[in-house]
Amino acid sequence: MSAKYLVTGGAGYVGSVVAQHLIEAGHAVTVLDNLSTGFRDAVPAGADFIEGDIRDAAKWLDSSYAAVLHFAASSQVGESVAKPEKYWDNNVGGTMALLAAMRDAHVRTLVFSSTAATYGEPVSSPIKETDPTAPTSPYGASKLAVDHMITGEASAHGLGAVSLRYFNVAGAYGEYGERHDPESHLIPLVLQVAQGRREAISVFGDDYATPDGTCVRDYIHVADLADAHLRALDAATPGEHLICNLGNGSGFSVREVIETVRQVTGHPIPEVVAERRGGDPAVLVASAATAHERLGWRPARADLAGIVADAWAFAQRKG
Ligand SMILES: NC(=O)c1ccc[n+]([C@@H]2O[C@H](COP(=O)([O-])OP(=O)(O)OC[C@H]3O[C@@H](n4cnc5c(N)ncnc54)[C@H](O)[C@@H]3O)[C@@H](O)[C@H]2O)c1
Repeated sequence: MSAKYLVTGGAGYVGSVVAQHLIEAGHAVTVLDNLSTGFRDAVPAGADFIEGDIRDAAKWLDSSYAAVLHFAASSQVGESVAKPEKYWDNNVGGTMALLAAMRDAHVRTLVFSSTAATYGEPVSSPIKETDPTAPTSPYGASKLAVDHMITGEASAHGLGAVSLRYFNVAGAYGEYGERHDPESHLIPLVLQVAQGRREAISVFGDDYATPDGTCVRDYIHVADLADAHLRALDAATPGEHLICNLGNGSGFSVREVIETVRQVTGHPIPEVVAERRGGDPAVLVASAATAHERLGWRPARADLAGIVADAWAFAQRKG
């Protein structure tokens, strides 16, 4: 059945891909984005666009919307350490205003972009939703605070909510891909070397307790993530806050990513080994068992070469 959805942050990387998937599934989409880190040309052609802030969501939200998919946030870990107040204001304050607007408009379904950063240093691997949450940055703390806020909203006011805790989102979907500035994610940074926009890639530590000494991360294709969002809309149950990790359940090392970019692009990709960065765990891999059980979700594009090839096609188009 076709429905109408508000997509906050739909001019950004993940939001634009999910908005496009909703449109392809026959739904009506309104994107609400203040373009602070997003791009007007990333809003899918079939979507309505409101240039505005989530703190003012009450101006536009009404009961014609079946649900809100909430991507809008500040999401740079390093910036959050330097300017924590920005993260409490935008991520926590912004979501508080959005939840109030949803309550007033009787919009009772929410899908929220949470993050692996809510866990901090893992106590075991793969990480489960029941593991302790001890974020190591104001970014992770602000996202965890929102998760707590949503839990209360579900039990007190009957919201049906799903928080999806993404691990490392990567790849692109046609016209829609990753254009962060500054970029901090490994795959687009290595692709910038292939494009000649950066001389070499820094490898932060090669003496971790991993097979090749470099950090291992769980890369998930952005189109697989989009599929999980559409399933989450169906799975949302009034009064329940469901939290699901989203990852492939197996990781790739920094060196494996660099080698894959060499193979996909044909560029030599010089690398420079640098000091470890504080707060970088050796391995961050998701258990996606809950997403399998509750959403019926399984990643269809777990192959790293495919993820990199899609990101490369996008980088050549837009980069
Ligand atoms: N990309 C990842 O690897 C990753 C991993 C885990 C979680 N997440 C989460 O997923 C979401 C999307 O991430 P992304 O990589 O697409 O980021 P992005 O920066 O590309 O997109 C965020 C969008 O939100 C908009 N925005 C920010 N504050 C706003 C506000 N107050 N009002 C209206 N619009 C606002 C920005 O303009 C931007 O278009 C974020 O919530 C992020 O924390 C991303």
